[in-house]
Amino acid sequence: MTIVGAGMVGHTTAHWLAVDQVADLVLVDIIEKMPSGKALDLLQATPVRGIDVKVVGSNGYEETAASDVVVIIAGIARKPGMTREQLIDTNASIVKRVVEQVTRHSPDATLIVVTNPLDAMTYLTYKVSGFARHRVIGESGALDSTRFRAFISMEVGVSVEDVHAMVIGAHTDKDMVPLPRFAHVGGVPLSHFVSPERIEAIVARTRRGGAEITELVGTSAFFAPGAAIAQMVMAIMRDKKRLIPCSVYLEGEYGEKDVCIGVPVVLGSGGVERVIELPLNDQEQAAFKASVGAVREMLTALKL
Ligand code: NAI
Ligand code: 2OP
Repeated sequence: MTIVGAGMVGHTTAHWLAVDQVADLVLVDIIEKMPSGKALDLLQATPVRGIDVKVVGSNGYEETAASDVVVIIAGIARKPGMTREQLIDTNASIVKRVVEQVTRHSPDATLIVVTNPLDAMTYLTYKVSGFARHRVIGESGALDSTRFRAFISMEVGVSVEDVHAMVIGAHTDKDMVPLPRFAHVGGVPLSHFVSPERIEAIVARTRRGGAEITELVGTSAFFAPGAAIAQMVMAIMRDKKRLIPCSVYLEGEYGEKDVCIGVPVVLGSGGVERVIELPLNDQEQAAFKASVGAVREMLTALKL
């Protein structure tokens, strides 16, 4: 499999994937020599960890030929005070060029899109690739949901293993839709443990999850994004049928068409094998609709 964009998120994703021995890896980046250096560094860690994976780096696409999964993380990241949406012009031209190369060399791949603004870049990838919609999947909900789960676990004082929660909608601070009503701790509804005021605070912190890290670190997050991407790759490569919110092209689900946005899906060897339609209440439905509106505004800016 291939990772295009061997920056912070790219190399962290490679690290998580190598640790779990998910697949042999090719790292691609435009910075001369850098992907080969990072690949070699990771490869040199494999004897210590007893990991049987091969890792190579390249500035071209020949080594990536016939990849089954390609993760697209090439592009610029936000700095403190920036929104993901402000990256759209620069990243659209990068993603377009990358997708043209990737589809030429790996026509049967499943594509996982990570570059921001995520929902717009997933839509762009879907359109430029011409691939079927089940093979173009944006990473958003996997990350936003793991942040939500981490904050719930901290609040409740129960292992993250037992905390289940998801975030749907756009991957933007303002418009993502955390779903506390569907969250549970070992099967017990979240509302049994946490007051409505504290749930609101956790939801607000989840929405700003990426911004909080960017303010602290000075650039965008990488450990949790890398782990979230690796979770999706693993679900596909091992045909695990995981239920994970991802940004996908909708064809009538949730009453929406011709837009990519985060919804729960089942991920397996067929890519997106099912879209799960949740019984949203009026408030959740309104929040999701507003989220779709925000993504449509970004798509207009794309001028496809
Ligand atoms: P980074 O700057 O560390 O890495 C980006 C890499 O892309 C750089 O090494 C750069 O040389 C490379 N690149 C640029 N143009 C390229 C091209 N045409 N072909 C191949 N490589 C190219 O940035 P970082 O932190 O890794 O973030 C990358 C992207 O991922 C950003 O757009 C960021 O906003 C997004 N992101 C998305 C997340 C999500 O949940 N969807 C989470 C975290 C980051
Ligand atoms: C994040 O949520 C910037 O999308 C990236 O950390």
